[in-house]
Amino acid sequence: MKLDPWGAVSIDDYSKLFDEFGISSFEEILPQIDDPHPYMKRHIIFGHRDYQHVLDAMKSRKPFGVMSGFMPSGKVHLGGKMVMDEIIWHQKHGADAFVAIADMEAHSVRGISWEKCQKMGIEEYILSLIALGFEPSGHIYFQSKNYPLRDLGFELAIAGRFSELSAIYGFSGETNVAHMVSVMMQSADILNPQIEANGGPKPVVIPVGSDQDAHIRLTRDLAYRMRKFLVEKRGDYVSVRGKAAGSDLIESAAIYLEEFGYQKVKRYEEHIDVRDATGPQEVLRVEELMRGFEVSRGGYGFMPPASLYHRFMTGLTGGKMSSSKPESHIALTEDPKEAAKKVMKAVTGGRQSLAEQKKLGGEPEKCTIYELMLFHLSDDDQELQETLEECKSGKRMCGTCKKLAAERIKLFLEEHQREREIARERLPEFGLG
Ligand code: TRP
Repeated sequence: MKLDPWGAVSIDDYSKLFDEFGISSFEEILPQIDDPHPYMKRHIIFGHRDYQHVLDAMKSRKPFGVMSGFMPSGKVHLGGKMVMDEIIWHQKHGADAFVAIADMEAHSVRGISWEKCQKMGIEEYILSLIALGFEPSGHIYFQSKNYPLRDLGFELAIAGRFSELSAIYGFSGETNVAHMVSVMMQSADILNPQIEANGGPKPVVIPVGSDQDAHIRLTRDLAYRMRKFLVEKRGDYVSVRGKAAGSDLIESAAIYLEEFGYQKVKRYEEHIDVRDATGPQEVLRVEELMRGFEVSRGGYGFMPPASLYHRFMTGLTGGKMSSSKPESHIALTEDPKEAAKKVMKAVTGGRQSLAEQKKLGGEPEKCTIYELMLFHLSDDDQELQETLEECKSGKRMCGTCKKLAAERIKLFLEEHQREREIARERLPEFGLG
């Protein structure tokens, strides 16, 4: 199975992702979160990479970050709202938050003019992000205007290989080079929260749809390749390997570790053994020290970025929710009355006839209306539970749910659009406009 972020894919069996790509199940770490987002509780976020580091930082009030990006190529629909909600949730829980408007990607991959990227970035994405609760302590930027980011992208491109880009994205001899550059820019987005100007190495989570995992894997690889040292536990001590670090750098690293109190620091040609770094906490400490050392020597000391994966929403017409099919989605800027009409016409889990539905009950697991309620329109778990039971037992008919969902989507959009106008006035607080 190949996940292509630019193609239309439907992922019917998420569990495959666990085995094939090494994504971990979110359910296992859910109990550690005191006030999980509804997406978390409701298993809409189903997988993660390295989220434990993010949670640990959140709990111990250490620095951590959240970042994601949007290509300004059309309307933001409820799928995009999910990413925004996740960014905002992490920001409220202490994360330094970063949002990229991927204008370099939109320009090079979709041929959208810079002017249009700018306008769409603000009108469609940024206003909604602020309206949903993003706060000015975070950072919103356009890729093309962020020069330290562009420098980082260039550095990462030194570690990137054409062969891997072609394996991951199917790039060929015909692919325009700027498309490849935009992939490097996206990796730069993901690692940008960890550069020195942004506070240095730290756990950073990237909430994405599961089709974006290729970017995460590539960036985790690049992050590793940029490291100068590799810290490993070896039996009952910690070993520090120099990856392309010359012997001078190894010697300075050894002295650095001694300055932090280690006494049994043994030097070898390409590595150092810290014999008195015993116990599980010591690996973490040496790891952190070595990241600091690396940064002090002009390196990056990147941690591999963490990620969260959420389920896609089904389109209102069945199939995938797609930005190119207006009847399949609800955009955050669309007319609330039109949106309500779309909901009234949406595919449900209802049966062929009323009689049959009373007898057999509905199929909420196939119902786009139920999904709307679950993902966006009900913060009441009890209500959802009752809806599910009444539907399955044949007590509740589709009309009831449709009317409720239509009314709520209308209210939500009216409110959101009012908030967007308030956000427009506040753009200067975010360094925009
Ligand atoms: N490529 C993403 C898209 O197709 C946008 C994006 C740019 C992004 N930079 C990112 C996503 C960093 C996550 C993290 O919409």
